[in-house]
Formats: sequence, structure tokens, C-alpha cells
Amino acid sequence: MRFSKKVLFFGLVLAAVAGALLVSCSKKSDAAAGKGLVGVIMPTRSEERWIKDGNAVKEGLEKLGYTVNLQFSDDDIPTQTRQIDDLITRGVKVLVIASIDGSALSNQLANAAANKIPVIAYDRLLMKSPNVDYYVSFDNYKVGGQMGDILIRGLKLDQATTAKPVIIELFAGSPDDNNSVGFYQGAMDNLKPYFDKAVLKVPSGQIERTVVGTLRWDAAEAQKRMENLLSAYYSGNEVLNGILSPYDPISLSCLEACKAVGYGSTPGKPLPVVGGQDCIVASCKSILAGEQYATVLKDTRSLGAATVELVDTLLQGKTPTGLDTSSYNNGSKIVPSLLLDSVIVTKDNLKTAVIDTGYISASELGL
Ligand code: BGC
Repeated sequence: MRFSKKVLFFGLVLAAVAGALLVSCSKKSDAAAGKGLVGVIMPTRSEERWIKDGNAVKEGLEKLGYTVNLQFSDDDIPTQTRQIDDLITRGVKVLVIASIDGSALSNQLANAAANKIPVIAYDRLLMKSPNVDYYVSFDNYKVGGQMGDILIRGLKLDQATTAKPVIIELFAGSPDDNNSVGFYQGAMDNLKPYFDKAVLKVPSGQIERTVVGTLRWDAAEAQKRMENLLSAYYSGNEVLNGILSPYDPISLSCLEACKAVGYGSTPGKPLPVVGGQDCIVASCKSILAGEQYATVLKDTRSLGAATVELVDTLLQGKTPTGLDTSSYNNGSKIVPSLLLDSVIVTKDNLKTAVIDTGYISASELGL
């Protein structure tokens, strides 16, 4: 087939226009990438909150024109170390890391520092390393205080007497997560006056955080422990009144274990008062159904927005201000921190605190 000169000319013009367009497109994507590639690593995709966290950070940064590589580590430490090494090789300008085991990443953090990549510990503090630049989280000690307050309110501990002490069992978070320390300390400090007055008792005597901890926040493990406690200490007339729980899936598992031995369906054995944390959909449903008593809402949208602002500040070459420079020592240094507030959610404020703010929609809750 032969082309006329006219067609050939027209074709050349078209090719030139297309070429110019291509150049301008690639310049545009260079410009976006030029604003910086940010590595974001979340511990697992199997928990509702970390998906929300990951998305909030990614979307916020992308809106500002950054390129984001978001990874989830399947709660597997070797996967997480590999992902960090890989992101460093790809030339990320900042690393945002929510760790699995806060003490397991020292080599990767040293590698980041050697490449002058600032590291932000996201929600969970990175421990025992000088190579952590910032920490963004909630005030974990206050979150723990709220877990204690949930029991104080739900069990009406101010009205309890030594003649009829209130009976509870205790659960803590994963021992390798520094947040567990703040949560448990905050809760136990608020409950201490009631233990001191002997109006609050733990029949199993299992009180040390390391003893009541739940490795990797595993709800199935917590359920097993609850079942064992019920059969060892509550097989007679003893009735469990409350459970300190640091995490919604643990709360729901403990409630399941209690239901299986008649709580909630036997006269004199109401479901124990149980709090929680993270405000997951299943727990909100349970709260509305009058089962789980409360949860602590840590709005992942606010944490995401605070992180995005911090990353942007750093990548603009500015120095972040207004940070807490005394609360969080990671065993190697004090890590400048940005600490947000959390909210207790019960049946009374679930609509205003969760639905009206758009954190969870009414339809997700089947309303
Ligand atoms: C977070 C909690 C979360 C828990 C389990 C903690 O580090 O602060 O919000 O429930 O991990 O994922």
C-alpha cells in the first residue's frame, strides 16, 4: 500500500502531536514522582483498622501529589523487614512504619538512616533504635485509662462494696507491641483505687501484663484463655462481672466464650461488662445489640491526616513543630511524638461519635 504525500504529511503531524503529548504526560508523572515516593508499611491486612490507616495515609499523600507505595506485612516479621529493605532500594524519601514487633527492625532502620531517609513510627513505637525520627499515635496511656474508665462506668464501681466485690479478669495486648504497656498501665492505674479498696477482684490472680498478654493480639488465643479461666475459676457459683479487654476482636471472643457457658442466657449470669478498642464494625453492632459494653475509637482518619501533614512538612524541608518531646523513650532516645485523643463509644453516643462523623456508615451497621 502506498501513501500519498498529503496522507504522509498528516501522519507526521499526528505523530508529532502524539509525541509532544507523551512528553508532557511523562513530565507530569515525573513531576508527581518528583514530589517524592513515600513508603508506607502496615502490619496486617487482616484487621479492619490497618486497612483504614493505610488508605487514609495513601489517599492523603496522593492528593498532595506524592507517590505512595503501600505494603501490608501479613503479621510476619521477615516479610516486613524485606518490604522495608525493598522500599529503601526503590529510593523512598520517607518511611512510615507500623511495626509488628517494635524491636525487630533495627537493621532496617539503620539502613534507612544510612540512606538519609526519615522514619516515622506509625501508631506503634519503634523500639531500641536511635534511627526513629518521629512517632505519630494516640496518647496510649490515656487510651488505657479509658479502657479502665469503661469498667468503672459499666460496672458502677463507685457503688461497689466489699460485701459484694465486683469480679473481673484481665487481658492485655501483644507483649512485643509497646502500646500494650501504655494501655495496660493506664487501665490499671485507673482501676487501682478499686483494687485497693478490695471492691474489685481477679479470682484467677493473673494480673501481671506479661501473664495476661495476648501475642500478636490473637483473638483465638484470647478466647482459649477465657475458656480456661471460666472452667478453672468459675465452674461453681462464681459469676464473672467484667473483662478488661484491649482490643475489639478479643472482646468479642471473650463474649463468645462466656455465652458458651451460659452467660447472657441464664438467670443471674448476665454477659460481663467488656470494653475494647478500635471501634470495629462487629463491635459496634454488638454494642448496639447490648452485648459488648463499649469500645475506644481512635479515628484512623485523624491519624492518617496528621501523618500526611508530617510527611509533607519534612519533604518541604521544614521542621515540624508542636511535638511532644518528653513522653516516648524507645529505649535508645526520646522520639518526638504527635499524640491524638481517643473517644469512649457506648450505646449512648455511638450514633453521634461514629455514624454522624462518617467513621462507619449506618448501612455498614445494618441500620
Ligand atoms: C493498636 C491498636 C490495635 C492493636 C492490634 C495496637 O498497636 O494501637 O489500635 O487494636 O495494635 O492491632
